[in-house]
Amino acid sequence: MTFKHIGILCSGGDSPGMNCAIRAVVRTAIHHGMQVTGIRRGYAGLLRGEFIQMNLSSVGNILQRGGTILQTSRSPEFAKAEFRKRAVDIMKGQGIEALIVIGGDGSFKGAMALCEEHNFPVVGIPGTIDNDISNTEYTIGFDTAVETAIEAVDRIRDTAHSHARTFLVEVMGRNSSAIALKVGVCTGAENILLPHEKVDHKKIVDDIQRGIARGKESSIIIVAEGPVSGRSYEIQNILKDLYHMDAHVAILGHIQRGGSPSGEDRFIASQMGNLAVESLIKGEYPIATIVKSGKVTITELPNCTKKEDHNFSEYKDLAHTLSI
Ligand code: F6P
Repeated sequence: MTFKHIGILCSGGDSPGMNCAIRAVVRTAIHHGMQVTGIRRGYAGLLRGEFIQMNLSSVGNILQRGGTILQTSRSPEFAKAEFRKRAVDIMKGQGIEALIVIGGDGSFKGAMALCEEHNFPVVGIPGTIDNDISNTEYTIGFDTAVETAIEAVDRIRDTAHSHARTFLVEVMGRNSSAIALKVGVCTGAENILLPHEKVDHKKIVDDIQRGIARGKESSIIIVAEGPVSGRSYEIQNILKDLYHMDAHVAILGHIQRGGSPSGEDRFIASQMGNLAVESLIKGEYPIATIVKSGKVTITELPNCTKKEDHNFSEYKDLAHTLSI
């Protein structure tokens, strides 16, 4: 099927590299003679008719910019069928024949519903710092978020060493362990606490004391935030109250979501944006672009609508072994 007019939106949490994917979609589509409508602020903006016509210049000079030029939102309304029907009517009213969605598993579910309920052609591009979408080894933004967190932890290590302190450093990822594990290994963390793991406070204390006994001047414990940010304060209180151990808390928060995308994120996002449009042209939808065995390719969209914790917990053991 030949599409003359496609729409593109970002949905859910933003991630560095989304702009590279938008640029690749717009430039590939224009290369093939298509019209592209940018939809601002995700599904919520779609329901409000927040449209902008994209041309070659509207995606100029954005490769290096963090965030998303289209902006994004989380739209609880879109979980309801009546709003999805309205969205399809609005898109058809604009002449939009297919939709490309950049986001996480929740955003993909919304896209999939448009296809199942209204036979509307959709393609998903995985964009989230959490790297937690099923059937893809990679989601756009993960690499940059990890680099940002590593830089922050290195800085914390400097001051922790100067004062001989222990820090609990909380990283993003909601239910995903991906950022915590990679950052933990790369910063020589003494321990990594995974999102749903029962915390063994005594073991944390024993490990830290063993380190101090052999001359260590600092300890870093990477805490995966879990469902609610701030989990580190609870751990800090228990260490203090039960074990009389002082630990400082640093919550890295949204600094992990911003910033100029890394080369890896630019490279993968550029390929995914291009492949998303090429797939639509070939009539391959509903699909998502993914990374499999290190290569950018496609899979059917329902394969990617589950949140998945890749949970390579062997990296937790690796960090622990290397930091004794
Ligand atoms: O899904 C990406 C993410 O950054 C998670 O790591 C984090 O838990 C969540 O979004 C924060 O969401 P918000 O920016 O809406 O507070």
